[in-house]
Amino acid sequence: MSMNMKPQMTHDAVTALIREIGENRQSYEASGYGAATPETAMVTALAENECAGLTARRARFEGEIGIERDPIVFSHGKGAFIWDVEGRPYIDMGACFAVAAYGHANEELVDALTAQAQKLMHGMGDVYPTDTKILCLKKLAELAPGNLNQALMSQSGAEAIETAVKMAQMATKRHRLIAFESCYHGLSFGALSLTGHSDAFKAPFRQRICADTTYVPYANCVRCAFGCKPETCGFACLKHLERLLKAPSSGCGDVAAVIAEPIQGRGGDVVPPAGWLKTLRDICTENGVLLILDEIYTGFGRTGALFACDHEGVVPDILCLGKAMTGGFPLSAAIATPEVLKHWPLNTTEAIHTSTFLGNPMGCAVAIRAMEILVRDDLPARAAEMGRALLQALRQIAQKRPDIIFDVRGKGLMIGIEFADPDGSPRTDLALKVVDRMRDRGIILLPSGPWSQVVSLSPPLVTPKPCLDAFLEAFEDIVAAL
Ligand SMILES: Cc1ncc(COP(=O)(O)O)c(C=O)c1O
Repeated sequence: MSMNMKPQMTHDAVTALIREIGENRQSYEASGYGAATPETAMVTALAENECAGLTARRARFEGEIGIERDPIVFSHGKGAFIWDVEGRPYIDMGACFAVAAYGHANEELVDALTAQAQKLMHGMGDVYPTDTKILCLKKLAELAPGNLNQALMSQSGAEAIETAVKMAQMATKRHRLIAFESCYHGLSFGALSLTGHSDAFKAPFRQRICADTTYVPYANCVRCAFGCKPETCGFACLKHLERLLKAPSSGCGDVAAVIAEPIQGRGGDVVPPAGWLKTLRDICTENGVLLILDEIYTGFGRTGALFACDHEGVVPDILCLGKAMTGGFPLSAAIATPEVLKHWPLNTTEAIHTSTFLGNPMGCAVAIRAMEILVRDDLPARAAEMGRALLQALRQIAQKRPDIIFDVRGKGLMIGIEFADPDGSPRTDLALKVVDRMRDRGIILLPSGPWSQVVSLSPPLVTPKPCLDAFLEAFEDIVAAL
C-alpha cells in the first residue's frame, strides 16, 4: 500500500463506524445476539451446504459469471446496520428491499408491535375489523394524495397489485391492462401477468399467466425505445401509448387501466423526465381508463416526497403500497378513490376478495407508528437532501469512468448506477462485481435492471451521513480498480 493510500473499508471499519455514530452494538452483545454459538456454526453450515436454493444459486453465479456468492446469514440489525450470525457488521445500503426505511429494530416500531401483540395479535380481517385497522386506514387516507381514501389491505406487494387489478376490472367492466416494459409488480400469478421485468420470471409458468396485458416502453431516456433525446422527445413513449388507446385496430379496445411505477425500482431505478407522470395521468383521464400507480417501492418518503406521485401533484385512481408502510412487518394496501370503490360489491355470503390475515392488527399498529415517524421527522425531506448529495458525489465518481459507468440517476434515496459500455452494452459482470466487492467490505447492495447491470441504492431513510460517506469511499475505490 502506498503511503498516501487510505486503509480499505472493511468489516472492522464498519464496526469502528458503528461506535463512532453510536449505534451501540454492546446492547446486542449483552442480549446474546452476534456471539458465535454452536448453533451459529450449524446455521452457517446449513446455508453453505444443505440449502438447495442457496447452493444452486451460488453455483450458477460462479459457473456463469465467475463470481462466488456464499450466502450470508443475517441475525440482527440496528438502524442502518445489519449483522450476520458470525457477528460481522454491514451497512445496509438497500434497507432489505427498501423496507427498513426507519432503520432496523427501530425502538418505536418495536414498542408499537409489542403493545399490539399484548392487546390482540390477530383479528377477523374484513368480517369484523379491529380498532387498529380502522385507525390505520384513517391515517393512510390522511397521507395519501387527493381523495384516495378507500383501501383494501393485504400482506405482500403482489397481493396489493392483484387487489388493484380486481378493483379496476370491477369498476370498468374491462379486462386489459397496459403495463410498462421492465416493470416489476411481484411474482404471484396475478402480479406476474403484469410484471415485465424479465421473461425468465414467466417462462416456466406461461400457461397459467393471463395474457390480457399489453406492454409499452417506459420513459427510460438513456435507452429510449424511439431513439429520442430527453430534451426533444415530447414523450414519444406516451404518444405511442395514447395511439394504442385510440386506434381501433391496436387490439387495446378493452383497457381497464394503465399500471405504472412512478420510478421503476427493480427495472433499474429509472426516473422518467419531469412532466411524464402528469402527462400519463392526463392521457388516462382523456381516454377513460384508470391509472394504477405502484408505489410499493417509491412510497413513504423514499423519493423525497411522501409518495413519488406527489412530485407532480398526480393523483392516481388506485395506489398500491407495501414495503416501507411498516418498515418490516408484512402489510400492503391498494387504496382507491370512492368513484372506483363504489363498484365493489357488498358481501352477501362470501366476500368476493379476502384473506385470513387481511388487515392484521400487528401490521396495522406498526404502520400507524411508522407513518407518524415519517411525518414527525420529515423523513421525505431528509431523503431528498441526502439523495441530492449522494447523487452529486456519485456523478463525480462516474465522470472518472465513462468507459464503464453509463448513467447515474435517482430521486431521493432511490439511486441507480448503470454499468455499460459507452455504446450501451450492459456490463452485468461489473455491476455484480461491485455488489460482491462491496459486500466483502461490509456494505450490502443489490443489482437491478433487466440485465442486472445497475447497482441499486435504497438505504434506510435514517441512514447517518458517515455511513453514506463510507459507502462512497468504498465505491470509489472499487470502481477505480475495475
Ligand atoms: C414496485 C414493486 N411492486 C411490487 C413489488 C412486489 O412486492 P412483494 O415482493 O412484497 O410481493 C415490488 C417488490 O420489489 C416492487 O418493487
